[in-house]
Amino acid sequence: MWESMPEGGAYWDKELLRMQKLKGQRALVTGASSGIGKAIAIEMARAGADVVVNYLYGDDVANAVADEIRGHGVRAIAHRADVSREADVVPMFERMEAELGGIDILVNNAGLQKDADFHDMTMEQWNTVIGVNLTGQFLCSREAIRAFRRQGLRPEISKALGKIVCISSVHEVIPWAGHVNYAASKGGVMLMMKSIAQEYASMRIRCNSICPGAIRTPINQGAWETEESYNALMKLVPYKRIGEPDDISKAAVWLASDDSDYVTGASIFVDGGMLLYPGFENGG
Ligand code: BGC
Repeated sequence: MWESMPEGGAYWDKELLRMQKLKGQRALVTGASSGIGKAIAIEMARAGADVVVNYLYGDDVANAVADEIRGHGVRAIAHRADVSREADVVPMFERMEAELGGIDILVNNAGLQKDADFHDMTMEQWNTVIGVNLTGQFLCSREAIRAFRRQGLRPEISKALGKIVCISSVHEVIPWAGHVNYAASKGGVMLMMKSIAQEYASMRIRCNSICPGAIRTPINQGAWETEESYNALMKLVPYKRIGEPDDISKAAVWLASDDSDYVTGASIFVDGGMLLYPGFENGG
């Protein structure tokens, strides 16, 4: 039986297309013009969702992602907005409501790093990271919750009133010297997510996080682009390979679908075991 199945990846691809687990749903993915956000936006479309591709820089790349999404037979809008600004976020949700009729899935993905030794960290470095990574997730989650409550349940579409997927990091629990602003923002995302989940579970709004480890994207290019840096990185990854954006996008589709209907308030680590204290493999 197992031998007769197609190779794993191809099997999943066919199943996803056949099942269309997110058919009729409308997803907003922030920071969706590159990296993990782009992979999630495309995977949501492959699962049948209409997608708003939020981005801040690069109209061309965002439009190209939206075009690729339309190629999967669903609707797509590329929308430029700075998620850290309320004056940008509110009109983005208004446009989604006007053009797609509402929202079923929010993926809070937009995030950045501005690394510095702590004693040299400027207010600008602190505020920018907290602003995008934490305040941005607050603003988008608040608008999504308002919309979910207004819209009401569509049982033929989903068992939940709405779903929020926060892209956090292993650094919501692993301290990170030289990246204090980033670790603080992700620690904040953890308890923001869990508190939202607690507050709205009885309304059947689910809120969860994916915590990526080292994923091959522009944000951490320095950590994987040379053989030397890649080998150093692998000392932190028990599974001995870097993660790819699709490792995250498949988890995101699962968290957005009814397959995870009993999951809320969870931090799901997709990290090749980075959280397993790899330094203790041969020590302690
Ligand atoms: C960071 C990456 C880093 C990874 C593992 C992520 O949240 O954005 O730069 O490689 O955590 O440390």
